[in-house]
Amino acid sequence: MNSDKPAYRVGLIGCGRKGHGHARGYVGNPHTELVAAADSDTDNLDIFTQRFGVTGYADYHEMLSSERLDIAAPILPVQPNPQVVVDCAGAGVQAIYCEKPMAVTLAESDEMVEACRSRGIHLAAGDAYRNMPHHWKVKALIDAGELGDVQTINLYQGTGEISGGGCQGLSVLRLFADDADVDWVTGWCSGDPASDHDQGMGGHIRFANGIDASISHKRSALEGIEVVCSKAVYHTNWGSGHLWRGEANGPLAEDESVFEEFGGTAGWMEPSGSRQRGGMESIVDALDHNKEPRCSGDNMRKVLEIAVGLRESHRQGFAPIRFPIEDRSLGIVPNESRLLNKKQVMGEERYAKQIQSAASQPIGGAQVDG
Ligand SMILES: NC(=O)c1ccc[n+]([C@@H]2O[C@H](COP(=O)([O-])OP(=O)(O)OC[C@H]3O[C@@H](n4cnc5c(N)ncnc54)[C@H](O)[C@@H]3O)[C@@H](O)[C@H]2O)c1
Repeated sequence: MNSDKPAYRVGLIGCGRKGHGHARGYVGNPHTELVAAADSDTDNLDIFTQRFGVTGYADYHEMLSSERLDIAAPILPVQPNPQVVVDCAGAGVQAIYCEKPMAVTLAESDEMVEACRSRGIHLAAGDAYRNMPHHWKVKALIDAGELGDVQTINLYQGTGEISGGGCQGLSVLRLFADDADVDWVTGWCSGDPASDHDQGMGGHIRFANGIDASISHKRSALEGIEVVCSKAVYHTNWGSGHLWRGEANGPLAEDESVFEEFGGTAGWMEPSGSRQRGGMESIVDALDHNKEPRCSGDNMRKVLEIAVGLRESHRQGFAPIRFPIEDRSLGIVPNESRLLNKKQVMGEERYAKQIQSAASQPIGGAQVDG
């Protein structure tokens, strides 16, 4: 990017815990300028505007019409998120970077993606592991043919939320499957398959390009993702990672040089904040070069579809579910603390401590994970 070019003007909607994290990311990026914020909770809005010195609005519609924004950043509970994203798309911004999960139903996520796609707006979703540059370095080696073909991907995420926290790992899984269409999935739920609420899910994905992936939701000594190629194995638990090279059935030897540019094989999440920084760099890159953000809204919509497919398989006696899923009214209801305002779920007193903690994290410091 030309350094003389003015920074992209950002307006943030939702000045809660995670809103502070995104704001720190924008302040820390030389190509973005946080100029305004909106929140219907005037306590949260006041804390935020005092901290970041930006104009505050109690109504986000007013912010969208008054400020000349390049990037809209709705950092909201899942319930209001789809409508706000669609409203931002109609307000003439160039990019929208919201949080995850992006929606409850497939229909809502379709509407969000279409509202942006039809206007040429870049939509990103989630301060996500998929934004970490390490994975993209390995993916580039795969694309260059250095590691052989991806054969199998194993995702180990011991989580009781396939949509809430679990969308993180599924996003990276899709990256290493080359974001191919899904042919079919079989799956199971850790609890009641009749429930629409979020829960742990495992299963198998067959991508249309022939790549197989398996998902485990059990807590185990191995967390993260294993990408098994014909000439290499990559494993990351998100905080660190390793790449081993070798031939089929031959000995594997670790290649640490791949991650030298990122400071080595460990410390990927903290305190460097590579995930958050990567997200901001990705939205700037999308605007500068008219390309898809690393963790796009379309990616997150397809991640939700995989999660719905795993559950539908269990509901149908573990039958394979063919994609795309036709019934777009299907969805997964996230845990209350993601669906609704946390102040409402936790109560004022507990929330006050949480927002104070989020508001005191230094720029470049540790992230609120989830
Ligand atoms: N990627 C991650 O690692 C990660 C981590 C934590 C949270 N999250 C996600 O971030 C989102 C927000 O989480 P949080 O912890 O900041 O919640 P929060 O409850 O602390 O903040 C939400 C804020 O949005 C405001 N808000 C709600 N509806 C609004 C509307 N219509 N207009 C304007 N303001 C509105 C609320 O008043 C509140 O200030 C959730 O979707 C959550 O899943 C992601």
